[in-house]
Amino acid sequence: MKINILGFGNVGQHLYRAFSLQKDVYIAQVYSRTKFKQSDPMIPFVHEISKIEPADVQIIALPDDVISDFSKKLSFTNQLVVHTSGSSSIQDIHNTRRKGVFYALQTFSKDIKIDFTSVPICIEGTYENDLKTLERLGRTISKKVIEINSEKRRKLHLAAVCVNNFANHLYDVSESYLNKHAIDFNLLHPLILETAKKIEKKIPREVQTGPAKRLDKNTIDSHLQLLKDNKTLSEIYTVMTNSIIKTHHN
Ligand SMILES: NC(=O)c1ccc[n+]([C@@H]2O[C@H](COP(=O)([O-])OP(=O)(O)OC[C@H]3O[C@@H](n4cnc5c(N)ncnc54)[C@H](OP(=O)(O)O)[C@@H]3O)[C@@H](O)[C@H]2O)c1
Repeated sequence: MKINILGFGNVGQHLYRAFSLQKDVYIAQVYSRTKFKQSDPMIPFVHEISKIEPADVQIIALPDDVISDFSKKLSFTNQLVVHTSGSSSIQDIHNTRRKGVFYALQTFSKDIKIDFTSVPICIEGTYENDLKTLERLGRTISKKVIEINSEKRRKLHLAAVCVNNFANHLYDVSESYLNKHAIDFNLLHPLILETAKKIEKKIPREVQTGPAKRLDKNTIDSHLQLLKDNKTLSEIYTVMTNSIIKTHHN
């Protein structure tokens, strides 16, 4: 299968690495405005949209806000063009009837390696044949390829933001708080990993612990007292505590 990867940021680079290891996939072109052959002579970079050539699948791995305008600039009308966004609609792709989505449900940062085999690939397509193509393409890198429509994918993405972005922000504000008091954040690593591991075996509600779950008012008050000079963490603590109490004691 011949593919073009249009965008070489977080997702584009990971897809490039994963697909370049597959014998059944040939990456013909990689579009980037700023990355050149000098940095990696193996990568078939193109820098102008007009130089993008036909392929079995054109994968737009560009920021959500760019997808729509970028797809309008592609010159071919009968090509399968997909984006990799969790929240953008399939209708954000223009200039072709053969639209699709190839959303890898994972967090990608350029320098952190990902094992794609366990990453769910959420696909969508306007035509049955194109869906089959996307399923075949997804299966070359992942064991889990599922068809999901734009409406459900948006909701899935919202949940992904909660469990990934929000959880990571909690690590961030907690680390800053501990740093400020010269306490090692790394001491929390086993707790963080165990919390994530537990939900492989149980539903999250069953494994909730902590002062809010126990309705341990003295502990909650003493924590809020410690946070009286930290408005951000105090607000987050209060919202989360109230949500846990409402869930478990309403
Ligand atoms: N990051 C994640 O964890 C993740 C996970 C799943 C899905 N996604 C989705 O995958 C897509 C790409 O995300 P990403 O994190 O890879 O994005 P990104 O790294 O922020 O951006 C990708 C590349 O887009 C290029 N670009 C930016 N503005 C442009 C423009 N106006 N015209 C042309 N090129 C432009 C930039 O490259 P140059 O400056 O070199 O051209 C940039 O490296 C998004 O739809 C996102 O929602 C992301």
